[in-house]
Amino acid sequence: MATAISFAQFIRLSKTSVFLHGNGLRSFTNSVSFSSASSSALSSPQLLKKKWRQPVVSVLELGGTKIAKDDVIRDDPTNNVPDTIFAKLGMQLHRRDKHPLGILKNAIYEYFDTSYSNKFDKFDDLCPIVSVKENFDDVLVPADHVSRSYNDTYYVDSETVLRCHTSAHQAELLRRGHTHFLVTGDVYRRDSIDSTHYPVFHQMEGVRVFSPEDWSESGIDATSYAAEDLKKCLEGLARHLFGAVEMRWVDTYFPFTNPSFELEIFFQEKWLEVLGCGVTEQEILKRSGKADNVAWAFGLGLERLAMILFDIPDIRLFWSSDERFTSQFSTGQLGIKFKPFSKYPPCYKDVSFWINESFTENNLCEVVRGIAGDIVEEVRLIDNFTNKKGMTSHCYRIAYRSMERSLTDEEINKLQWDVREQVQNKLNVVMR
Ligand code: DAH
Repeated sequence: MATAISFAQFIRLSKTSVFLHGNGLRSFTNSVSFSSASSSALSSPQLLKKKWRQPVVSVLELGGTKIAKDDVIRDDPTNNVPDTIFAKLGMQLHRRDKHPLGILKNAIYEYFDTSYSNKFDKFDDLCPIVSVKENFDDVLVPADHVSRSYNDTYYVDSETVLRCHTSAHQAELLRRGHTHFLVTGDVYRRDSIDSTHYPVFHQMEGVRVFSPEDWSESGIDATSYAAEDLKKCLEGLARHLFGAVEMRWVDTYFPFTNPSFELEIFFQEKWLEVLGCGVTEQEILKRSGKADNVAWAFGLGLERLAMILFDIPDIRLFWSSDERFTSQFSTGQLGIKFKPFSKYPPCYKDVSFWINESFTENNLCEVVRGIAGDIVEEVRLIDNFTNKKGMTSHCYRIAYRSMERSLTDEEINKLQWDVREQVQNKLNVVMR
């Protein structure tokens, strides 16, 4: 189970930010490192050889960086990027003006442009392949933090990852002298499967730096000044997007901010976390040559907000090229409610096995997604017991459902057959 970081990740509020609460709220029982984990699972030599021998099928232009298959799928024992993830690199849904994520990004831009007279620099095509240093060290993520594990993050090699958050660009942009900026991008996390979790999603990061002259007149200290400004800014943003909603601030923890907060809005009878933010740790500013400044930062998940704003019931829909989905949205139209074009029935299949100590749910989900792609709607643990000999059995219920068409029995049986076979071979578990 998992994992997932925050803001794209919604509804299951227990699965909020991996950066929360030090050890995160992800399920750590499963956070076995990839290397010790199923080496069988995802790094068996035969499997990888097969994968690497495939020709480079696409070379993508992305933020001035060409991403070829061997830029992300490498002959390196730490590499855990599957073909399904490579296939998503460069799709840049957030740069499509008629896509819900692009519409939302533009609406947020509009708020910042009008409230701050175009002062915020905008970046939306920075390369998602970043160093471990940028993704973690530069934003002070502790060396033993769970989000660094191979179970949670896609590693290209031991020093390179697919960014797991847009915060990966904060330090570099600060070093380059930017003082007001927004970074939007696709982010990657190994995770479990359900209607609100997908291993690729989109975030927007915002940073504003203040100089002593900004707060000196105010009569309050720099940190309080920044925190107050931050809350005012984000409350304005929430009103811009949601109208007159009830909001509340919750204190929380992020490695990169102190104090740290979450903004929640009251929506459909529930408090929903919509973003994380805080006053940037002074160490980050110091290392970026801004020791005399103070700054705030925030990060929000675009899917999470778009699912609320457009009434989109399943995160897989964002990736759909079905016209019945894409034609419902138009440039600049934030309020449109998605009308489900059809709801095909799900088909449930169970799989039970004795786990081994390196088993993780994220690895299982990767295997299932590798076979069923976006046809898999959910993978849920429905039974878990340990026998007298100390062997633990898990039973997972897999929900297969296409957003676009009905599935035949034959097709589902074939998928389930392949799942059983690969679960056994790649995860080295004993089927029951
Ligand atoms: N990087 C955080 C995440 O992915 C989101 C975030 C929280 C970004 C607080 C920030 C921040 O810049 O200040 O969960």
